[in-house]
Amino acid sequence: MHINGKAFRTIWFDEKDQAVKIIDQTKLPHKFEIKNLKTIRDAINAIKIMEVRGAPLIGATAAYGVVLAIMENNDHKFIKVSCENLVQSRPTAINLKWAVNRMLKKLSGINNNEVLKIALEEAKLICEEDVKFCENIGLNGLKIIEEIYNKKKDTVNILTHCNAGWLATIDWGTATSPIYHAYKKGIKIHVWVDETRPRNQGAFLTSYELNEEGVPNTIIADNAGGILMQRGEVDMCIVGTDRTIATGDVANKIGTYLKALAAKDNNIPFYVALPSSSIDWETTDLKKIPIEERNSEELSHLEGLGKDGTLKKILIYPKKSKAMNLAFDITPAKYITGLITEKGVCEASKEGLKKLFK
Ligand code: MRU
Repeated sequence: MHINGKAFRTIWFDEKDQAVKIIDQTKLPHKFEIKNLKTIRDAINAIKIMEVRGAPLIGATAAYGVVLAIMENNDHKFIKVSCENLVQSRPTAINLKWAVNRMLKKLSGINNNEVLKIALEEAKLICEEDVKFCENIGLNGLKIIEEIYNKKKDTVNILTHCNAGWLATIDWGTATSPIYHAYKKGIKIHVWVDETRPRNQGAFLTSYELNEEGVPNTIIADNAGGILMQRGEVDMCIVGTDRTIATGDVANKIGTYLKALAAKDNNIPFYVALPSSSIDWETTDLKKIPIEERNSEELSHLEGLGKDGTLKKILIYPKKSKAMNLAFDITPAKYITGLITEKGVCEASKEGLKKLFK
């Protein structure tokens, strides 16, 4: 997708610099900066401090992290430890483990002379596949938006939470891909963007990328979705996921569950868009999904542009207050209208998933 009219992807390998390039998402929306990752430590740090974030992009960064580890030292033990550290860098998004395991499987039995070349090819393939998956998610989700539009014959209002946009993937996004496809097709569309405290991925990233593509959108406080639904101002919700387990239950950014409850109460369709790399086939109990708890400073402090044009961080809570920062929650399958995947739309259930992914 585009920034200032120029097409970008979120991650790529630069042969000349022998580095992995990323868009530093901690600087958005105020600064657009491309950063080089040159070591495995750079890759792990980028995931931890969320220079890259969003489940599919975390997975792609981990794949390139394996490449960077091999570039540093292609000793088997070093690669193994690097992979373990990568997997531990963030706990909830399953794409991380998925990507590392896929890289390890691909590299097993490959001799030292070839290992770097094969690893780089596989990391690139993971990215290319993600782009295709997200594009297909868009085409499958487009049909749902078209149906609503044909009935309503007026602007379709879609609510989304966090950033499951192209900035969270390699291109297109998951939740945003049906939106971009509908917009390109001339369907009148408007997006309610949940601010998504505390990291504000909705306001800082989703609204930013929708603006760059010209898609009409309005940022709302996280708690505003309910009243908008009651007023009939939301036609559907589409969100992403960090991990959808085999039963169709969905872990996603904190606050997703409450939106699903409000949608259910107001008979509003609630869809989750995901590539198959976000499915955790091994887990069947939603209580077993690891929920990341991040530093409470993300809640107690805010960063923004000062009057002098520089980025400033300020404390907004009472100095003595404790705060708790759970980064994800779980939406049980019963609140989900459907899962929009690269293979089609299915019921959020074991049976639904199995029908699509034999
Ligand atoms: O903490 P983040 O910004 O990595 O969380 C991102 C989300 O919750 C997204 O909705 C999810 O990863 C899906 S991205 C296509």
